[in-house]
Amino acid sequence: MGKGKECLRMSAVATTATATLEDDAADASHLQAKLITSLEGNGITAGDIAKLKEAGYYTVESVAYSPKKALLSIKGISEAKADKLLQEASKLVVMGFKSATELYLVRQNIVYISTGSTELDRLLGGGIETGSITEIFGEFRTGKTQLVHSLAVNCQLPIEMGGAEGKCLYIDTEGTFRPERLSAIAQKYNIPAENVLDNVACARAYNTDHQSLLLIQASAMMTESRYALLIVDSAMALYRTDFSGRAELSARQMHLARFLRMLLRIADEHGVAVVITNQVVAQVDGAASMFGGDQKKPIGGNIMAHASTTRLYLRKGRGETRICRIYDSPCLPESEAMFAILPDGIGDVKE
Ligand SMILES: Nc1ncnc2c1ncn2[C@@H]1O[C@H](COP(=O)(O)OP(=O)(O)O)[C@@H](O)[C@H]1O
Ligand SMILES: [Mg+2]
Repeated sequence: MGKGKECLRMSAVATTATATLEDDAADASHLQAKLITSLEGNGITAGDIAKLKEAGYYTVESVAYSPKKALLSIKGISEAKADKLLQEASKLVVMGFKSATELYLVRQNIVYISTGSTELDRLLGGGIETGSITEIFGEFRTGKTQLVHSLAVNCQLPIEMGGAEGKCLYIDTEGTFRPERLSAIAQKYNIPAENVLDNVACARAYNTDHQSLLLIQASAMMTESRYALLIVDSAMALYRTDFSGRAELSARQMHLARFLRMLLRIADEHGVAVVITNQVVAQVDGAASMFGGDQKKPIGGNIMAHASTTRLYLRKGRGETRICRIYDSPCLPESEAMFAILPDGIGDVKE
């Protein structure tokens, strides 16, 4: 592949610097990923494609990247069919080595979504990275929900304004999504609130199975229209209520792992930023110093830790101020920035 995925995906509509993001259902040019229908033929039937879609596979990449075991778990896919699918998908998707130079160029073209605060953006090397998972964790009232509301608006902005020119999908597990907050944030950028609200699709998730099911819908929506951001606020809340105690811990972690794998796949295939929020619990072992001396740690254990590319820890400052600490990142140092929760969204602390 000559050009980076992100570059292609994100620059496709860079000419339309407007908050009105048209649906391009008929034209899938916003997609770098190949639609699953291109697998049809050569022993792969329309019925097979339908089965794959039902299981959340909407792109050739999703099949190519999938372990055979996962394909076999789809109802109606035989061993021979799974082999055939992998064989055909691998003809369309390049999965070998690339030079570091090529990968460097891809990284240079990654789009970042501004948080609304210049200080916080600087800390994050430009903002929230598209194409990977960012986890925001912290105690309640530390601004996790406010921050994702700001991102839901900012992702729609033109690239030169810190946006990614795409829509937002929002999965709300705690019932804290507030469209009126989006309107207030839109005013900051002088863009019509109606456009901003039209570009955010929100679903309330009621249990962990439903939360996973919504991701299948999300994949389908992303092949039809250009999205830049997928939010899950909060990713763990329903896991805490659906699974209780030690006895169900391993079942919970298995379910969670599958959910996070689906999120990774979406980030990868569609180049969207995936932002999940998480709560903290009191730390019982001696690893507290890793969390800036606080006796708190995010929930979800190693499974959560490994799925999130960037982990951000929020804590309260004075009044409306909050502090963000980079807790884990493949390329950012562990440092901190201060930002503020303002009536028009996340911003810088006023002197
Ligand atoms: N319209 C608003 N203007 C300014 N601050 C707000 C507004 N709405 C909520 N906040 C502040 O946001 C904080 C809550 O943040 P929130 O994102 O809900 O926390 P979390 O999701 O981490 O529990 C509260 O301190 C509240 O005062
Ligand atoms: Mg919240």
